[in-house]
Amino acid sequence: MLKIKNLRASVDGKEILRGIDFEVKAGEVHAIMGPNGSGKSTLASVIAGSDKFAVEADELSFDGVDLRDMSIEERARKGVFLGFQYPVEIPGVTMANFMKIAVNEQRKSRGEEPLTAAEFLKMMREKAKVVELDPKMTSRAVNEGFSGGEKKKNEIFQMAMLDPKLAILDETDSGLDIDALRIVATGVTKLHTPQNATVVITHYQRLLDYIVPDFVHVLYKGKIIYSGDKSLALKLEKEGYDWLINDYKE
Ligand SMILES: Nc1ncnc2c1ncn2[C@@H]1O[C@H](COP(=O)(O)OP(=O)(O)O)[C@@H](O)[C@H]1O
Ligand SMILES: [Mg+2]
Repeated sequence: MLKIKNLRASVDGKEILRGIDFEVKAGEVHAIMGPNGSGKSTLASVIAGSDKFAVEADELSFDGVDLRDMSIEERARKGVFLGFQYPVEIPGVTMANFMKIAVNEQRKSRGEEPLTAAEFLKMMREKAKVVELDPKMTSRAVNEGFSGGEKKKNEIFQMAMLDPKLAILDETDSGLDIDALRIVATGVTKLHTPQNATVVITHYQRLLDYIVPDFVHVLYKGKIIYSGDKSLALKLEKEGYDWLINDYKE
């Protein structure tokens, strides 16, 4: 599904990603961990199509199509979803309207008819259940005045509505209390199917108790310096990154 070979990304001449190889297949869950500033959010942004970075790669493709030829919107329509570490507020635009436009744009690009108002409402009610989101929230402006937990639930609600092939969740667990963490993480797990894939960027192993990864990668100074299975996350939680970083020669 996602194939990345020797990816480099820089901003203002500063190299942030320095040769990343990363492949995600349908049905897989990958976790990306690593100290602050190692390039995790940059990697997510580059995959989603941010134009902030100068990107070079031997391969950067999604379902066999070169991502570099696709805008951020085209990538989204093809099924790439990025949940932001810091969700944006859109004053004056209700969540319902925002999602209606997004869902119908996506349907249009697949050659499907737009949903009727009744169909859309039904879909919203069903998907809100995935993250125990109060359907009343959907008549409020996007993220405006939402608590940290509500923003994160909203993010997974958006993901449920858009049904992406590849979901990249950047620190979806940050700022969540234990209950919200469970709800958000269980929501992500409910949405996982053998046809889609999830990449979770996280600092904490506790998220991975719910969203069990097939692979865990450690990003450090713009490179994946170590990969393992879910036991790696437990080891990192216990021992930190020092043992890896100390062994790592540039
Ligand atoms: N737009 C930008 N301009 C300059 N530096 C940036 C920009 N975006 C990210 N960086 C730098 O790139 C490095 C990696 O950042 P980031 O990808 O956010 O790391 P992480 O998500 O792993 O904490 C940091 O040193 C950060 O300051
Ligand atoms: Mg980050």
